[in-house]
Amino acid sequence: MIYIISGTNRPNSRTRQVAEHILRLYKDKTHDAEIIDLATLPFNELASAPYGSQELPPDIQKAIAKIDAADGLVIITPEYNGSMPGALKYFIDHWSYPKSFEYRPVAFIGLGFRWGGLRPVEHLQQVFGYRNAYIFPERIFLSNITNVLVDGKITDEAVAKLMEKQTSGFMKFISALKSEKLHSNQI
Ligand SMILES: Cc1cc2nc3c(=O)[nH]c(=O)nc-3n(C[C@H](O)[C@H](O)[C@H](O)COP(=O)(O)O)c2cc1C
Repeated sequence: MIYIISGTNRPNSRTRQVAEHILRLYKDKTHDAEIIDLATLPFNELASAPYGSQELPPDIQKAIAKIDAADGLVIITPEYNGSMPGALKYFIDHWSYPKSFEYRPVAFIGLGFRWGGLRPVEHLQQVFGYRNAYIFPERIFLSNITNVLVDGKITDEAVAKLMEKQTSGFMKFISALKSEKLHSNQI
């Protein structure tokens, strides 16, 4: 299963709309995929569970169990103040190392205004590189997001093609790692 992380807990986010578009692309290519939407996770309950606690809220535990078994992760992040949303980093900081990260394929999509989420994607690449994940090199940056995404639809043909290309390329990337038994789920 490929998990598409909608990387903000802001209600009615554009990130969630992008995640739905990407979900359709994977399903069209008949790959199992599912969205993990940070807006549905109980961050308030998480605040009372100390880091490293075995007693994380059940919905957070379930989401992390999905990460730990994922064929691949597609992380979609908006740019908030030049980086990723705090909720996304807070979620990631509850994953376990090495299980959640090491040798796990991950692809990134950023969105924002002028720079299209370049900064949060590069910050995430640092985090996942540090934790030995396999980073898919083709990243996507959705700049001028209010023009590129209208009523949940991608209006820019070139961007739509990049998304198609990342989707099929990421699936091949995962298969190639699996065929050589290099994937996190095989080690
Ligand atoms: C708290 C906050 C901070 C933001 N900071 C930036 C920023 O630094 N650079 C940028 O290009 N856009 C910034 N934006 C605009 C968002 O990238 C843009 O509204 C995007 O659609 C937000 O994604 P969302 O709808 O998924 O929350 C910010 C938005 C919010 C809510």
